[in-house]
Amino acid sequence: MPLHEAVSGSEWWRSGVIYQVYPRSFADSNADGMGDLVGITSKLEHLDDLGVDAIWLSPFYPSPQKDAGYDVSNYMDVDPVFGSLADFDRMLEKAHELGLRVMIDLVPNHTSDQHPWFQEALSSEPESAERSFYHFRDGRGETGEIPPNNWLSLFGGPAWTRAEDGQWFLHLFDSSQPDLNWENRLVREAFEDILRFWLDRGVDGFRVDQPHAMGKQAGLPDHPYVETAGAGFIEGEPDPPMWFQDSVHEIFRSWRKILESYAGECAMCGEAYVLPLTKMAKWVRPDEFHQTFNFRFLDSPWEKDSLVDAINESFRAFDEVRAPSTWVLNNHDTIRHVSRFGGNYGRATASDGIGPNNPQPDNKLGLAKAKAATLFMLGLPGAAYLYQGEELGLPEHTTIEPKHRQDPTFFRTNGVRVGRDGARVPLPWVKGGSTNGFTEAQDAWLPQPNSYAGLSRDQQQHDLSTLAMYTQALKIRSELRLGEGSFDWISNTDLLTYQNGSTLVIHNFGTSSVELPAGEVLLSSAPLKGAKLPANASCWISI
Ligand code: NOJ
Repeated sequence: MPLHEAVSGSEWWRSGVIYQVYPRSFADSNADGMGDLVGITSKLEHLDDLGVDAIWLSPFYPSPQKDAGYDVSNYMDVDPVFGSLADFDRMLEKAHELGLRVMIDLVPNHTSDQHPWFQEALSSEPESAERSFYHFRDGRGETGEIPPNNWLSLFGGPAWTRAEDGQWFLHLFDSSQPDLNWENRLVREAFEDILRFWLDRGVDGFRVDQPHAMGKQAGLPDHPYVETAGAGFIEGEPDPPMWFQDSVHEIFRSWRKILESYAGECAMCGEAYVLPLTKMAKWVRPDEFHQTFNFRFLDSPWEKDSLVDAINESFRAFDEVRAPSTWVLNNHDTIRHVSRFGGNYGRATASDGIGPNNPQPDNKLGLAKAKAATLFMLGLPGAAYLYQGEELGLPEHTTIEPKHRQDPTFFRTNGVRVGRDGARVPLPWVKGGSTNGFTEAQDAWLPQPNSYAGLSRDQQQHDLSTLAMYTQALKIRSELRLGEGSFDWISNTDLLTYQNGSTLVIHNFGTSSVELPAGEVLLSSAPLKGAKLPANASCWISI
């Protein structure tokens, strides 16, 4: 029996390829230097040509943009910088005409501090109904000058900020992102309305931001091992009081019911950072999330043993609950895989970024490894996520000047952690000008590095480009139904090989070219040398 058996004829989200659109950096239609919904609509054909099944749109809601839109001040509208609800509807309509599904980002752990709920909370009394939308507490110490507990913000510094009247409010992220109190029934009801608002407009599902943070342990006790875990957690240690509390599961069950009351296989993917994956599997039981991002895979360095462990752990955990594993190598919080694999930057999602003062990546080597990693990933059964620009082989922008930086991580750590801006740089469409076709404005909201000109989409309309490899891979993946296929290891040597149906997927972890097994080569991440696969390359072989 293979490690993972094929699942056929099942729902689209079990095997689909979902492309993350980061609206501010995708395409600008109105020459203000910031991407927008009309820009996305105008380029959807390119995504159809690429061959993805769905797009996931990062937040486009009204927001002060303190955390690039993950600080929402109105969940039922569009920020004017991105357009209007009518623009959204048109974008959705066009996507559906092309056969692309659309998932949108839901940000339930926190709002913006400009959200009317928070503004009302601030102007209300301690212990009031308005304050109970959030976590307000008195401080410790004689005058309440010490935060209520020892929790830290993921973006640096304490997780508490003091309001004018002396009470403190909790924010696991920036101080402009107060955490909602999910014990409050009114919060739950409000989000059910938000889900229905967008489902009524026709969206195909949600990517849910930080669902593992929504529940907080009653009484908000100190985090017992904050010294070693910082704002996060350490795998294997007891559950910390702010992450993956059991109380959240009934919320997801209620959301799943809402999604299932709509036609069309609507799906939700949790950005659940829960490890080990055996624990994460509980989040994708049949009545909870349809899938969650696989951070074990994303976090894995491009090293054989770690990769093998991540894949084994994924199939074992998710098959147990009959959920698909997802596979992902990039997103807007992670150093782009070209640069990540072109250097040694440790954990991918640490959101520390790479700055001008860090050792610089070897992006040539990184591109070879990144293309190979993608080919290795796209052969795996399950759902796969791509992040805009990876199909062009874009590297991280590692030399952004401080004056351009936007990520709150940069500001909350006084630049010690440069943050995630380097992965969020506007896309190059057509070589030339200061932004390679991203905007007609003189400048985009973030500058591109020089290398983006040659990587523009119009420069990649030939068979040997990274774009061509991605397009071919998605075409073959779909024709051979690899997403629904089976999985078994064939060899765990330098030539790491697995089999999916009648396809062998091979990566050469060695240092020299290796003879390939017999079969028809369907696709390769680098030109073969005779019948040999070069080091740092992957290929697909039909047997
Ligand atoms: C995860 C999002 O992907 C990230 O960009 C954001 O900063 C945090 N959640 C907080 O919303």
